[in-house]
Amino acid sequence: MTSQFFLTDNEATEQFGARLWTRLPEKSLIFLHGDLGAGKTTLVRGLLRAAGVTGTIKSPTYALIEEYEIRERKIFHFDLYRLAEPEELEWIGIDDYLNENALCFIEWSEKGEGVLPVADVHITLTIQGGGRLLQIDGLKL
Ligand SMILES: Nc1ncnc2c1ncn2[C@@H]1O[C@H](COP(=O)(O)OP(=O)(O)O)[C@@H](O)[C@H]1O
Ligand SMILES: [Mg+2]
Repeated sequence: MTSQFFLTDNEATEQFGARLWTRLPEKSLIFLHGDLGAGKTTLVRGLLRAAGVTGTIKSPTYALIEEYEIRERKIFHFDLYRLAEPEELEWIGIDDYLNENALCFIEWSEKGEGVLPVADVHITLTIQGGGRLLQIDGLKL
């Protein structure tokens, strides 16, 4: 099951994130695909805002992971761009994160290939004109 959406601006990407918050099962593994600047972090930011996270929402580019716990729900946001080898994920205890009842978003999942399991949902963002094309697989919207 694949669907496509055109997101005209930053707001539209955040709103799509908010929609995901209402639709994703409580425990889901979501891989976010797309070039730098495609809008992966923006999408997660929209979801986190809808979930009720206030204050600055940082991209996990340097920390590798940002964790959120809000209203008994957990959200893990990974960015593996700086991962040198997939085995680093084992050192940080990736399995413990993945076994939690949580939403787990992973940017640059390609870097974790061989260690990461198969995702429930794939979202691909592509820059198209002034906006973004979003393709989603594995979730009916
Ligand atoms: N639908 C959209 N149309 C145009 N610009 C967008 C859209 N969604 C997000 N952006 C902008 O594109 C950039 C995306 O950055 P970011 O979310 O950090 O990308 P990534 O995490 O994929 O590297 C931001 O400047 C954001 O404001
Ligand atoms: Mg990002």
